[in-house]
Amino acid sequence: MIEVALFGAGRIGKIHAGNVVRQPGVTLKYVVDVDSAAAAALAKQHGAKVASADTVFADGSIDAVIIASSTDTHADLIQRGAAAGKAIFCEKPVDLDLDRARTCAQAVARAGVACLIGFQRRYDPTFAALKARIDEGEIGDPEMLIVTSRDPGAPPVDYIKRSGGIFKDMLIHDFDIFRWILDDEADTVYATGSCITDPAIEAAGDIDATAVTVRTKRGRLAQINTIRRAVYGYDQRFEVIGSKGMLQAGNHKPTEVVAWNASSISSDKPEHFFLERYRAAHVDRRRRQSARAGRRGDPIVARETSRGTMSVAGPSLGANCSPVGGRGQSVAA
Ligand SMILES: NC(=O)c1ccc[n+]([C@@H]2O[C@H](COP(=O)([O-])OP(=O)(O)OC[C@H]3O[C@@H](n4cnc5c(N)ncnc54)[C@H](O)[C@@H]3O)[C@@H](O)[C@H]2O)c1
Repeated sequence: MIEVALFGAGRIGKIHAGNVVRQPGVTLKYVVDVDSAAAAALAKQHGAKVASADTVFADGSIDAVIIASSTDTHADLIQRGAAAGKAIFCEKPVDLDLDRARTCAQAVARAGVACLIGFQRRYDPTFAALKARIDEGEIGDPEMLIVTSRDPGAPPVDYIKRSGGIFKDMLIHDFDIFRWILDDEADTVYATGSCITDPAIEAAGDIDATAVTVRTKRGRLAQINTIRRAVYGYDQRFEVIGSKGMLQAGNHKPTEVVAWNASSISSDKPEHFFLERYRAAHVDRRRRQSARAGRRGDPIVARETSRGTMSVAGPSLGANCSPVGGRGQSVAA
């Protein structure tokens, strides 16, 4: 039996808790949250105990920790988890500061523990199928990628204030996508953005819409457009153009029922948000983490992934509220 402790009983923590308890051979032993009522409610729902971080890291029976608490807690918990020899799953981003993220990567490498970061799009069945077909050579060498990434609505302003801003909070997934799909690293990033949908976001020091172009080290191009408000639902699409053709991957709908009448043809909107759209991806990722729990020396794929995405998010920050005027920002290795 694999025993797991969860940090964070908020939006995403609840998803992870549900996926843990549905998995055979895995038990959710502890829930940790500074909001004791939230911790107690989630622990009760899944037959777990409320505990402190100290209890979790001192308990030798805990094989793996899931870090789904607020972003500013991740780096400390990763380092403590690594020092205690736990397999780690941590939500994105590792930290808002690239050097702190690097320190975490070193701690994980030193400890030799498995560590997976929350880039769930790689485990989405649709996107994973597209990637597999690229790898099989169906469109030749992928040369250009267009990513559309639009949320149905912004998170609460309190969340935005602690999030690190749209590039590190939201586009970090899109930066992960271009590195994964094009199998390349960023060389130059051109980014601009604006606050369009809600002045409260601007008052919190952030923007809510972006347009980003990345030129990769091999000269491939990725264009990413994002906005925090798409009234028709969560919109996650991309197309990849290659020397032998193009592949597109898109949204999922709750049902495929289509209504036809005298004036229009209509179907379901895309699934509402990430909780719905990436349900299957979260389950698959959880299964993989459990398979790795306790096995030292596994490849720590996501450690590298997280560093690469943050290297792009940093230079993009020049666009936060004051657009980078036409000049690309170089991306540090
Ligand atoms: N992969 C994804 O698509 C995805 C989606 C949403 C959120 N996230 C990430 O997950 C994290 C949490 O996001 P959320 O939307 O669930 O936020 P949330 O605000 O709903 O929940 C965060 C929880 O962490 C708790 N917390 C704060 N400090 C803590 C500490 N020191 N120890 C234990 N618990 C603590 C809070 O009390 C809260 O209950 C963020 O880092 C976010 O970037 C990832």
